[in-house]
Amino acid sequence: MTELAAARAYYDTVAEEYAARVPGLFEQDVLGRAMLGAFAEEVRTDGDLPVADLGCGPGHVTAHLDALGLRAHGVDVSPRMVDIARRRHPDLRFEAGAMDALGLPDGELGGIVAWWSILHTPPELLPSLFTEFRRVLAPGGRLLLGFHAGNGEPYTGQKRAGGVTYAIHLLSPDQVGRQLERAGFTVTARLTVRM
Ligand SMILES: C[S@@+](CC[C@H](N)C(=O)[O-])C[C@H]1O[C@@H](n2cnc3c(N)ncnc32)[C@H](O)[C@@H]1O
Repeated sequence: MTELAAARAYYDTVAEEYAARVPGLFEQDVLGRAMLGAFAEEVRTDGDLPVADLGCGPGHVTAHLDALGLRAHGVDVSPRMVDIARRRHPDLRFEAGAMDALGLPDGELGGIVAWWSILHTPPELLPSLFTEFRRVLAPGGRLLLGFHAGNGEPYTGQKRAGGVTYAIHLLSPDQVGRQLERAGFTVTARLTVRM
């Protein structure tokens, strides 16, 4: 099973429980919401192009971006997550899909948010993922990533549900920064939070 298939199977299994728990935690995440607020302000200032929330889960971050005045839509590999997002936020657009194959024209987006969702991509595939992000962003388009910091090692408390064991990769912020720069991004801000 590929890691993408494992992510889909895992999140399909836990979708309802995740949706009952995580949006409430997001409401308490003052620092995370501060970064999203700055991102939204920058995208609006740049010209207000559409924004994609990649790995959107049950859609609470997409809804937050919408409330911040952005034209945001969500994409998630888990159809169950997408169903929940559509049910909770019927006025917003959510699609099932993989973030490394977005099927969007070049330069379509003013911003991408991948909030706790690149941590399931094998680290060796991140350079090509960032190249795809750069492709679909307009020149100067903004990218905001949220991930668990580490050094590329798998998270020891691996997740298991529905017969699927599935890895979380702890990513080095320095290495992610270098990969982003190689893909054509300029890293302008970084927030490290002790949890
Ligand atoms: C930890 S959850 C984060 C959800 C939401 N962004 C949040 O902040 O709560 C990770 C989400 O990313 C999705 N995901 C993981 N890999 C993906 C990929 N390659 N393409 C699209 N979605 C992906 C999973 O299905 C899951 O819903």
